[in-house]
Amino acid sequence: MSKVYIKTFGCQMNIYDSARMRDALGSLGYEETQSPEEGDILLLNTCHIREKAAEKLFSEIGRLNEIKKQRAQNGQDTLIIVAGCVVQAEGEEILQRAHAIDIAVGPQNYHRLPEIVAHYNRKKGRVLEANFPADSKFDYLPKTHATSASAFLAIQEGCDNFCTYCVVPYTRGCEYSRPADEIIAEARDLVESGAKEIMLLGQNVNCWHGEGASDLGELIRRVAEIDGLERIRYTTSYPSKITENLVRAHAEVEKLMPYIHLPIQSGSNKILKAMNRQYTAEQYIEIINRFRTARPDIAISSDFIVGFPGETEEDFEETLRVVKEVGYGSSYSFKYSPRPGTPAALMKNQVSEEIKTERLIRLQELLLQQQKQAYEAMVGKEVPVLLTEKGKRKGQLIGYTPYLQTTHVNADERFLNQIVPLKIKKASATSLSGEFVCDKVAVKK
Ligand code: 5AD
Ligand code: SF4
Repeated sequence: MSKVYIKTFGCQMNIYDSARMRDALGSLGYEETQSPEEGDILLLNTCHIREKAAEKLFSEIGRLNEIKKQRAQNGQDTLIIVAGCVVQAEGEEILQRAHAIDIAVGPQNYHRLPEIVAHYNRKKGRVLEANFPADSKFDYLPKTHATSASAFLAIQEGCDNFCTYCVVPYTRGCEYSRPADEIIAEARDLVESGAKEIMLLGQNVNCWHGEGASDLGELIRRVAEIDGLERIRYTTSYPSKITENLVRAHAEVEKLMPYIHLPIQSGSNKILKAMNRQYTAEQYIEIINRFRTARPDIAISSDFIVGFPGETEEDFEETLRVVKEVGYGSSYSFKYSPRPGTPAALMKNQVSEEIKTERLIRLQELLLQQQKQAYEAMVGKEVPVLLTEKGKRKGQLIGYTPYLQTTHVNADERFLNQIVPLKIKKASATSLSGEFVCDKVAVKK
């Protein structure tokens, strides 16, 4: 059987896309391998969000090209395929810069991979497919299956918000919502193949407006009806477009986990305006309060960008002030990275690298302190943990609490992909460790 090795950079949407490319190539007889030396196809799914992420592609291609040469000496043919947002943004340039690439496909074209691979002929030249087709790729992809008890499901893609720093509206195109029935059918396939948790994905997931449900809140209620599905999550949300129905779902839908990732980016209204974010810091806090009223224990996480053009020390302190007021369970923070073709990259008042680094360190110190407090507050509690991974140590499994906190437990592999009640014994800033609450553990044979 032919094999495909897939390496994924970037966000959860890319992890989802990689799984769908695996499905698509599966229909051509390719089976996934974890070892690149075995790969008849070596596939890189790329990210363009920050400069560092995009640069990783070229070092990785160098590594894969060495494997390709080694395999050629053994008489084995290898295709190097690059997919994802870098292809959409700079397809021509990457083909010119990296001659080892055979095929490059953008995020809206990967359903065509089986056809492109089947007809690929090196003598006829390399292939670049990076347009925005009028029809949806989802209409062409084969049925999917879960490879873990926690699965991703894309319900919405693209973005019409045009934050001034962001490449997503250019790489993923305008907003598209999949119809509810199609989402429910895919969710059923995932649950039938072993998923217990589904993370509904979208660049602006709460802007979902597909056929068959009024908003994300109603869609969640429909997904919750699927027997065998135990946990529902969604990400990433855009602050100003939260509906009351979604907030209420956190109070009413038991399967919906008490967690929301709601990126604020900056706490300064001046910077939010320059970013073209359509809310103020005060409005953001008000939305958080609505979620907390509906579900008092809800964990909040956010993304932050420091050193956006024009950000002064006072602006940055506003961000620190909002962080203190909200109290985050976990967060992601980045130095502003100017991206080609975005308005912010052309702004005159860029912040120096030294100041960005210094602010990032200060922000991360505060965020880590908050995260540590949230983890420590779990000690002594009994929580259901979905065990999805094997730990580094033999006999150890890793899972997630409802609040998405990483949790370690000593347990044998029978418990993998199960939800088990654990008593939390210890906490560090980044993980918990727990023990079984013995009389409550039941393992399905
Ligand atoms: N520079 C730094 N961070 C960025 N993000 C998006 N674009 C940039 C950029 N140009 C961050 C935002 C977003 C997350 C996915 O990546 O915080 O929420
Ligand atoms: Fe990018 Fe803003 Fe759209 Fe998020 S909402 S994907 S940050 S443009």
